[in-house]
Amino acid sequence: MASTTFLTMPSGKTIPQLGLGTWLSPPGIVQHAIEVAVKHGYRYIDCAFFYDNEGAIGEGLQNVFKKGLVKREDLFIVSKLWNSFHEPEDVKPALLDTLKLLQLDYLDLYLMHSPMGIKNVKGDLLPQKDGKVVMSDVDYLDTWKGMEKMVDEGLTRSIGVANFNTHQLERLLTHSRIKPDVLQAERHVYQTQSKLVPFVKEKGLVFIGYSPLTSPQTPFKPGPKNGMEDPVVKEIAKKHGKTPAQILLRFNIQSGIVTIPKSQTPEHIIENTKIFDFSLTDEEMKKLASLHYGARAVPWDLLGLGHHKHYPFCKDE
Ligand SMILES: NC(=O)c1ccc[n+]([C@@H]2O[C@H](COP(=O)([O-])OP(=O)(O)OC[C@H]3O[C@@H](n4cnc5c(N)ncnc54)[C@H](OP(=O)(O)O)[C@@H]3O)[C@@H](O)[C@H]2O)c1
Repeated sequence: MASTTFLTMPSGKTIPQLGLGTWLSPPGIVQHAIEVAVKHGYRYIDCAFFYDNEGAIGEGLQNVFKKGLVKREDLFIVSKLWNSFHEPEDVKPALLDTLKLLQLDYLDLYLMHSPMGIKNVKGDLLPQKDGKVVMSDVDYLDTWKGMEKMVDEGLTRSIGVANFNTHQLERLLTHSRIKPDVLQAERHVYQTQSKLVPFVKEKGLVFIGYSPLTSPQTPFKPGPKNGMEDPVVKEIAKKHGKTPAQILLRFNIQSGIVTIPKSQTPEHIIENTKIFDFSLTDEEMKKLASLHYGARAVPWDLLGLGHHKHYPFCKDE
């Protein structure tokens, strides 16, 4: 049984449908998580400068290369441009910092972490004034021009966005020279993105769903309910002889999107690969989708960005 399937992006390149999330995977532990993941067939590693662990992930990658488990070209490495680096001239230095930490020459995919710029203050990714994050009003279309140059220079193979809404994505598609290959946004049974997922697919992009297990470790309170404890999920899991986590991941795989569960626990990392040997029925898919109540594991407004002019999550998004 395949350890992952692949989707094709508008550029014609492929992306593995299962990836390893790394938010809150601590340095010292994430290195081993990378090795276990690669040994068990993960090819996509989802990173971000903001996660403050890219140096440790770089060590983990060097380790798997040195052991001959995979070659660089076998992996699909993703990172994200943090909001502080939205001025077009800040994009290249930010990407070079990430590449240095990851010990790589190029990324497979570089995402704009969100459409919301933050003031670039050295050493402070969330600068505050009077208890509020200091924003910048750089237009994400200008940031995108900086990202397009990174493709031209061969520092990343593809570019995409995260946490954009349908209007922002439409505007970007209209005004970009290089089209985004993907949109990454929160997606799980309690946040099904019933408007955004079809919109992204209709435009031909790949949708990457984050927090697929409802992010039980999210530091933002109250987070979503823990989907792995939901009675409906548990009942479906029992019927298939699978775990609740595997049902939640299969829900995303079968929705035709990429899923990137985070795990630092070897047993979980392995368990999360065993999602390609069974199918949910249409009725089960509908039952799972009906659990939606609009929850968010990453409420960007709690980061102080709710009043940003490019805040993406309006009521209908
Ligand atoms: N673009 C963005 O703005 C954005 C925002 C959020 C997340 N992301 C990306 O998406 C990834 C995933 O989202 P997430 O980290 O929020 O949460 P998640 O993947 O929904 O959940 C991770 C949590 O589930 C646990 N877990 C994993 N597998 C399990 C299993 N089989 N059984 C029981 N528990 C299990 C993990 O614990 P263990 O580690 O102990 O297994 C961890 O506590 C992130 O790591 C990041 O790469 C992107």
